[in-house]
Amino acid sequence: MGYKICSKKTYEAMVQEYNEILTKGLNIDIRRGRPATEQLNLSKAMLKCKPTDFIAKGTNADIRNYGLPTGLPEARKLFADLLGLTPDNIYVGGNSSLNLMYDIVANCLLRGVLGGERWLNSPKVKFLCPVPGYDRHFRITEDLGVEMINVKMNADGPDMDTIEELVSSDPTIKGMWVVPQYSNPTGITFSDEVVKRMANLKPAADNFRIFWDNAYCLHHLYEDKQDKVLDIIEECRKAGNPNMVYTFMSTSKVTFAGSGIAVVAASPENINFLAKQFDTATIGYDKINQMMHVEFLKDAENVHKLMMQHAKIMRPKFDCVLKTLKAGICNSNVATWNSPRGGYFISVDVMPGCAARVVDMAAKAGVFFTNAGSTYPYGKDPQDSNIRLAPSAVSVQDLKVAMKVFCLCANIAAYEKYNF
Ligand SMILES: Cc1ncc(COP(=O)(O)O)c(C=O)c1O
Repeated sequence: MGYKICSKKTYEAMVQEYNEILTKGLNIDIRRGRPATEQLNLSKAMLKCKPTDFIAKGTNADIRNYGLPTGLPEARKLFADLLGLTPDNIYVGGNSSLNLMYDIVANCLLRGVLGGERWLNSPKVKFLCPVPGYDRHFRITEDLGVEMINVKMNADGPDMDTIEELVSSDPTIKGMWVVPQYSNPTGITFSDEVVKRMANLKPAADNFRIFWDNAYCLHHLYEDKQDKVLDIIEECRKAGNPNMVYTFMSTSKVTFAGSGIAVVAASPENINFLAKQFDTATIGYDKINQMMHVEFLKDAENVHKLMMQHAKIMRPKFDCVLKTLKAGICNSNVATWNSPRGGYFISVDVMPGCAARVVDMAAKAGVFFTNAGSTYPYGKDPQDSNIRLAPSAVSVQDLKVAMKVFCLCANIAAYEKYNF
């Protein structure tokens, strides 16, 4: 079909190599963005951090007891400093930001947003989903019965022309998922222009909310080349939309995945409203864990030092993936990929119609990649092209093997689809 992939001889040699790999009994899993053991060890000392004083700063509250529903004041301050905000912008929750997102979407549907009706009063509830994006965002909205609309992701953020047009004309569009920095999976960071345009949206729905998941805002790969995204809360305030955004982050990949602490940052009005809504579900989150985090992480400067130790572990893995792709993909038609400056993922677009085949061939050889389609709502990539690589949890040695297999599968699948 008009694409030159490689010669027949090269193709046959690759098939032979692939068949030999099938006999090797490989078992390498790079499906999910988990921190490596070495990274988890960076925070081992936190488990020894015993609070010296159980009274939360500036209060009479004993952290071992109920109370302080918006979080430990020390933890609110730490996150405010990290995000360039003030503590009244911060709600410290439990161990998972995804859990906070789920609860907020559910509350919006059932109980409404600050100053607006509950979403379920609308004949339909729709979300805009920049693609490729984070599969677990899409699962939340799919599970809760929200209709999802794909929006193209560009190199500087989602396609704002489409977003502006849809949001301003359709009152059933109630929300939007975004990962603004070192995005999952494309690794891109939103430009200032995209952030400003997003803050200046004029939604047809008065209860529209942006779900700004800043999961990777601290996860730079380099000391000297770091992306920075504009403060959406401030931009929304300036635009006269102060309550239009909920932002999220957590320490899942700073300290311990699944045992960190998670945060919502938003306007003080939104935070107070949220605290009231959440008050029905919990008398407060785990302040002992919050205190241990504060004792261990100390301040923003110390967190940045810790993140550079993470970067030192992550960088060779990203380098390995990029180098192996460059050497192993036989032709620029076969695949394109990004070279992010941070985050946890490398996103590869193989030739249309080949992604599921590549993931399947690799799985038969014992190398497991995130399912094709999972970076799209409903698991359906219309082009069957995008594959997310998550190199963090395995050794460089295993990555080299995994990526070699990936390249072979991408080359073979492309040849068989376009040169047969
Ligand atoms: C964009 C994004 N948000 C949230 C999460 C999960 O965060 P948490 O562990 O705080 O629930 C991930 C994990 O991979 C992620 O990639």
